[in-house]
Amino acid sequence: MSNSDNQNRVAILDAGAQYTKLIDKMVRSLSIESVILPLNTPAKELENYGGIIISGGPESVNSPTAPSFDQALFDLPIPILGICYGLQLMNKAANGTVETKALREDGQFTIELDNQNPLFKGLKTQEKVLLTHGDSVAQVAPDYKVIAWSGELVAAIENLHKKHWGVQFHPEVGKLTPNGRQIFINFLYQICGLQPNFSLVKRTTEIIDKLPQQIGSQTAVVLVSGGVDSTVCAAILAKSLPREQILAIHVDTGLMRHQESRSVVKALNQLGLSVRLIQAKKDFLNGRTVINGQLTPPLKQTTDPQIKRQIIGDTYIQVIQNYLTKLSLDSKNTVLVQGTLRPDLIESASKTVSQTADTIKTHHNDSNLVRELRAAGKVVEPLRDLHKDEVRQLGLELGLPEEIIWRQPFPGPGLAVRILCQAKQQSTSENFKDLEAQIQNQLLSESTSCRVLPIKSVGVQGDGRSYKHVVALFSQQPNWPELYSIALTIPKIFHTINRVVFVFQKSLAKLPIGLTKTLINQSSLSQLRKADWLVNQWLHKHQLTKVISQMPVILIPVNFTQPGYRSLVLRPVITDDFMTASPAIVGQDISEKALSELVKQLAKQPKIAAVMLDLTSKPPGTIEWE
Ligand code: XMP
Repeated sequence: MSNSDNQNRVAILDAGAQYTKLIDKMVRSLSIESVILPLNTPAKELENYGGIIISGGPESVNSPTAPSFDQALFDLPIPILGICYGLQLMNKAANGTVETKALREDGQFTIELDNQNPLFKGLKTQEKVLLTHGDSVAQVAPDYKVIAWSGELVAAIENLHKKHWGVQFHPEVGKLTPNGRQIFINFLYQICGLQPNFSLVKRTTEIIDKLPQQIGSQTAVVLVSGGVDSTVCAAILAKSLPREQILAIHVDTGLMRHQESRSVVKALNQLGLSVRLIQAKKDFLNGRTVINGQLTPPLKQTTDPQIKRQIIGDTYIQVIQNYLTKLSLDSKNTVLVQGTLRPDLIESASKTVSQTADTIKTHHNDSNLVRELRAAGKVVEPLRDLHKDEVRQLGLELGLPEEIIWRQPFPGPGLAVRILCQAKQQSTSENFKDLEAQIQNQLLSESTSCRVLPIKSVGVQGDGRSYKHVVALFSQQPNWPELYSIALTIPKIFHTINRVVFVFQKSLAKLPIGLTKTLINQSSLSQLRKADWLVNQWLHKHQLTKVISQMPVILIPVNFTQPGYRSLVLRPVITDDFMTASPAIVGQDISEKALSELVKQLAKQPKIAAVMLDLTSKPPGTIEWE
């Protein structure tokens, strides 16, 4: 790339944010080419770019382990937009201060802004934005001024003379910052003066043209799950290589949905992909792997979510390698082609996309064995730069059937990461009385009560992984707008909580909670599989499959004094990119009547103590619980 080419490009400096790729996607969707570079890129290498954007990140700028950067960056005569961590870095570098405040903000908030500022042209004076941070600007740097506020917290700063702007919120997350796109238009076209010249079609052609070179004469082994990513990946392969060079495989892990494997193979065969089905249920339940030199217990005895994920990812590879050996295919002459997307790699903290991102969860296609194969040049990932909505668009362009394109995503580790495990029966729960009293007094009206559940789920807060308790709300007559607003506020004030659910059975509010021993086995799998099937039938019946982007059902060990019982949580979300999500709202996206029909049906299932609805946005709670 020559220096003069860079003049119409934007450099995105990655400080480890979950959303760096969304910045890149937003910039490209505005027809401007962008390049993601490490935060410590020397200023000298940046001086020819048309603009610089600094991403968010999981660290604190005050931490001794904060990622390094070149101070001279802020002396370049190029417009800079700092986002979240980027803003804090900019402020600190110019002698301002940043502090961890008592209040953390995770979710959508309304800020006040100066809409006469060039960055905010075309916006209203109050805008909804996504905030996710624990640190905030304390003292604004000399020569910088505040141009937006979130209550008492600084939401944006500017130094017009230096062409520096910093926003605490995330304009790149379009769903939760609806006018974020306008901010990028202002920055790219007006402030940086760039010219639109980039398109997705150009990128697709590049992907298809590159594959034969990458794969050469090797056999391309492609794992198809039936989801949109792996199907698009297989379809791209079919466009680039002769059919006899492609070996499409579907693995039945035993962690799939009801009748999933059968229907996947049928649908893909109809596309002419001639998929081979490997039955590997026992391999997965008994699957083990080595983590930090230690052999793990088998999946069926593992309770830790990250270890479950590592075992499943590595078992996929072992099963495939055994199969190739049986077919007498030499591993030297095969290459694994995966439909890995950019968010999978970001959440797994793959060093191939960011040096500094935190591991939120290890996706099955980025386990240790996959990383080893990747390092050996044995993995090809044609979609690794794309997000779900871009892949769907690509799938449509390739002529794939709509029902595959619009299938709701189902994670590779399947039902195993939707069963919260519990090593042994526990009758008395931890005592959360003080916390419950504080939540009650500060946030709840008399008609609503709360309990802290003695289980933890994974979340993403300030670009880092969190693993925290869940608050359950109870109310005779749910006031939904109030409940969603409480769900937004609880994690903001109470930092040991990252998720809030509503429990439909009010009568359970005062009972001791108790946990049932829960492991991944036929019994827990079939209990969840049945519930998942009912939810999917219900989604179709009420024509909600496109309204709700994904609706996981989670089996949790909470039994409310009924030994052997468990509870179910419904997690309907709305999202385009799956990096952030809003809960689907009862009374707006889902009718109360339809929902209560589903809840009644699920509550009648054998050994179900309670049915709950997850009210949390992402952040602070991820879509899946583990
Ligand atoms: P989270 O739970 O991180 O999920 O908000 C974001 C999206 O990723 C899916 N997901 C996975 N997909 N392999 C996959 O192919 C995985 O290991 C995996 N884990 C989560 C999740 O279902 C959601 O759509």
